[in-house]
This record gives sequence, structure tokens and C-alpha cells, in this order.
Amino acid sequence: MALLLWLGSQLSSYLSNVSILAVFLTVFTLVLDFMKRRRKWSRYPPGPTSLPFIGTMLSVDFQNPHLSFNKLQKKFGNVFNLQNCWTNMVVLNGYKAVKEALVHRSEDFADRPYMPVYEQLGYGSKFPGIVMARYGHVWKELRRFTLSTLRNFGMGKKSLEERVKEEAGFLCSEISSEEGRPFDLRFLVNNAVCNVICTTIYGKRFDYGDETFKKLLHLFEEFLKEETGFLTQLLNVVPTLLHIPGLLQKVFRGQKEFMDFTDMFVHKHMETWNPAYTRDFTDEFLKEMKKGKAAEESGFNYNNLRLVTTDLFGAGTETTSTTLRWAVLYMILHPEIQSKVQAEIDKVIGRERSPTMEDQVSMPYTNAVIHEVQRCGDVVPIGVPHRTYRDTELQGFFIPKGTTIITNLSSVLKDETVWEKPNEFYPEHFLDTNGKFVKPEAFLPFSAGRRVCLGEQLARMELFIFFTTLLQKFTFVLPEDQPRPREDGHFAFISSPHPYLVRAIPR
Ligand code: HEM
Repeated sequence: MALLLWLGSQLSSYLSNVSILAVFLTVFTLVLDFMKRRRKWSRYPPGPTSLPFIGTMLSVDFQNPHLSFNKLQKKFGNVFNLQNCWTNMVVLNGYKAVKEALVHRSEDFADRPYMPVYEQLGYGSKFPGIVMARYGHVWKELRRFTLSTLRNFGMGKKSLEERVKEEAGFLCSEISSEEGRPFDLRFLVNNAVCNVICTTIYGKRFDYGDETFKKLLHLFEEFLKEETGFLTQLLNVVPTLLHIPGLLQKVFRGQKEFMDFTDMFVHKHMETWNPAYTRDFTDEFLKEMKKGKAAEESGFNYNNLRLVTTDLFGAGTETTSTTLRWAVLYMILHPEIQSKVQAEIDKVIGRERSPTMEDQVSMPYTNAVIHEVQRCGDVVPIGVPHRTYRDTELQGFFIPKGTTIITNLSSVLKDETVWEKPNEFYPEHFLDTNGKFVKPEAFLPFSAGRRVCLGEQLARMELFIFFTTLLQKFTFVLPEDQPRPREDGHFAFISSPHPYLVRAIPR
């Protein structure tokens, strides 16, 4: 009996110790969490209530963040804060705020947040590629080299424009073979745009229908899907979760397999490399790598070669081909606009000669339509995240160094204070009263400032040549039995049209 009483008292004292410990740990964790989430600065932008541990993550639909941002903008204004767990974020909305940050305070906002989820692909402080690189020496060197190499790529046999023209011809032949039947042009357009970038970086083009290419495209779609969603955001802000066995392989399988493809291309290239003869961007990079230690330290090493080429492929393919799919969609939804573009093509270029970039100045209407496609299509609605490089001020708010910045480009392209009909397809946004082409400053689909899209020139050339060649050769119509396609986008980092079928009637 005495033993039982003694055991009972021991147990109750143990339980009360455990309870005290549990209470202590809970209070300690809550205080720690509070300290981590506390924003101690005055004049910090307003925002929704931050909850313990998860911050404001429940205020955002990560499948459609731009829509959540639009709602929050109405409540909190053009500059508001969010908190992904313990990571402070500020979202910039509307032309004025975005321009002030990207253009007037370009360096303050030029950094990128560190994304631990990319480490498994080989990204790191010495291996940043370009898109996700922190603002600094390596990014500057890689960006400078990439821009000048792409610019110089008129060298050798074919200039970039010739390549785009040739590929537009192949695309039209493929479309002709559909013989006016309903089809989804997504795959063909993707193939064409991908060929432009692949010949430039890997000296390789894929025949239409190529199985390797289909696989590559599928993996890239997975890649983009894996970039969005709640789980990816959570893993970025709580990287310890990445150590859960098997999680990385499960969540980022597409990204990993996509990188394996890149490795294969780069390896094949290295095996056949001849320093005396530069075939493409990869050869030019290999040449740079051979320049010794200084070049190595400036970022010209094997890992960066695979990451930079992946960046160019990733940033340059889906964006441009999605814009072209929006273009055809708007043409079938607005046949009267399509006819006006065709009339201009007939007048300036005719039916036989291939369009060239020189034609652009004489074609204000077509140019306005392409710009309006980019504005309405809004393919990179929330841009690529930035990060403040130093403490800074914006629109009267204080934003500390190291804050993740989201530039809501969608809110600029649809800014009600700038555009006459922000939510309609209205090419007159880009025409003055005399029908001359004008470009309002709020046209920022490529962003602006130090991190402005590096491929803007190439993209603009591709959009003009592909679009005019397509409308020169075909009239696009909605198949009789098809419902009117949806005009809202489907978001997976890029905003693309929902799948639709089209008939291409030869002209
Ligand atoms: C219609 C087509 C395109 C659109 C709408 C587009 C849009 C963008 C946007 C919004 C950014 C983020 C800029 C920022 O951080 O503020 C970006 C970055 C970038 N784009 Fe594009 N892009 C397009 C085509 C291309 C092409 C064809 C290439 C490659 C040849 C390319 C390469 C890049 C690169 C490398 C970056 C990262 C720049 C840096 O961080 O320094 N893009 N693009």
C-alpha cells in the first residue's frame, strides 16, 4: 500500500513537472514566434493580421496570388505587407509604386530572395544562374556576358532574325498540314519558340512531333507547377522541412528530371566542343570557362553553364509561346481586329514576302495589337520576386533591407488610373488620335530597372515575326461546335489561356 502511495505521488509530481515544462515550452515558442514576426519599424506598410507561425499565409490563394493581391490592394492600398511564416514580404501594386521601386530606386530593389528549394537543382551562392542570382558581381558578369552573346548572335551563318523567320515558315507548314481542321496550336507554337532558343543556346532544333521534345515540354510544365502552391512557399520559408526524407523527390520530381535533360545537352556539347569554332551560346560559355581562375570566380564554371542555359530556356520559351497563344485567342474572339491586322499586312508586306523587323515601323496597328495582347494576356502577373538590397523608402513607407518584394505587374498592366479600358481588349490603348503607335509608360510586361527581362529584344522580335507570318498565311476562326473560349488565365507562375481549339483557314 505504502509503495502504491509513493508511486502515485511520484507520478503526479512527474506529470506536474511535464505540464510545467509543456507550458514553459509553449510560452517560449510563442514568445520566440512573436519576436520573429514583430515588425518594429514605424512607417512600415500596412497588411492583414499576422497569425502565429504561419503569418499571413492564409490571406493568399497561392494558386491565384494575383487575384488575392488585387483584393488586398483594395483594402490596404498600393503598398502592403505580408508575412510567409517569418519572412517579411511587401507587395507593390499599380504603376506609380512599381515604377518608383524598379526605376527610381532600382538598386535598392535589385536583389533576389534566397530560395532554398532550388538547392537540389544545383543553385547556390556560387552557382546562382541569372534569374535567381543575388544582386552582385557574379550576377552582373553572367548577365553582361549573356546579353552581349545573345546580341552578337548575328555572327556566323544566320542572324537571330533569320532563324525566327525560318522557324515561322516551318510553323506555317505544320499548321497547313492540319488542313483547316480544329486543332490545339499549343504544342506547335511551343515547339517553334523553343526551337529559336534551343538553336541559340544548344545549336539544336526539334522536329515537330519529336518525342524527346514532348517529354521536355511536359517536364517543363511540371517544373512550373512545382513553383507555385502553398507547399513550395512553405518549404522556401521553413527550409528545415526539406530534410524530411523523400519529400524533395516527391515535390520536385519534374524540376529534377528537367535538369537531367539540360545536363545531357551540355554533356553532349562538351564532348563535341572545338574551341576554334563557336556553334552557339554554350560554346561561347565554354570558351569563357577556359579563361582561368578570374573567369571561374566571376561565375564561368560548369554548374553555372547548366543553370544559365536552363534559365534562358525556362524564361524564354513558355513566356513567348504563351503570349502567341493569347494572340491567336484574341484574334478568334475579335475577328474584326484580325481583319484590320491582315489588311495592314497585305498593304505593307503583301502575301508572299516574309515579314521582317523593318516592317514594324510601317505597321502601327499590328504593333498596337501585339502590345495589347501582352497587356491583356499579362503572362507574368506577379513578376519574379525581388528583395531589398538595403533599407529604403517607397511611397512614404519604410522597407528594411532583406524584405522580399513582389512586383504585381498585373496591377500595372490593368491599372485603372492609366488605361482607358483596363479589362477590355482595346488596341487603341497604343494608338494616338492620328493612328500612330504610342507606348504608355505603364506598359511593363517585361518589368523594368536593373532586373528587367534580359530577353525583351528577342521576345519582341519573335512576337512580331511569328504573329505577322501567321496572320499573313491564315485566318484563325473558332470551330462551329466549340464553346466561346474563356478569357481568364490559368496561373502556374505564368498565366496562360485555358486550352482551346482553333481552325486555321489558309488565305
Ligand atoms: C513575352 C516574353 C517574355 C516576357 C513577358 C518576359 C518577362 C519577364 C519578367 C517579368 C521578368 C522578371 C523581371 C524582374 O525581375 O523584375 C523576366 C526576367 C528574365 N527574362 Fe524574360 N520575358 C520574356 C521572354 C524572355 C526571353 C525570350 C528570354 C531569353 C532569351 C528571357 C530571359 C529572362 C531572364 C534571363 C530574366 C532574368 C533577368 C535577371 O534576373 O537579371 N525572357 N522576364
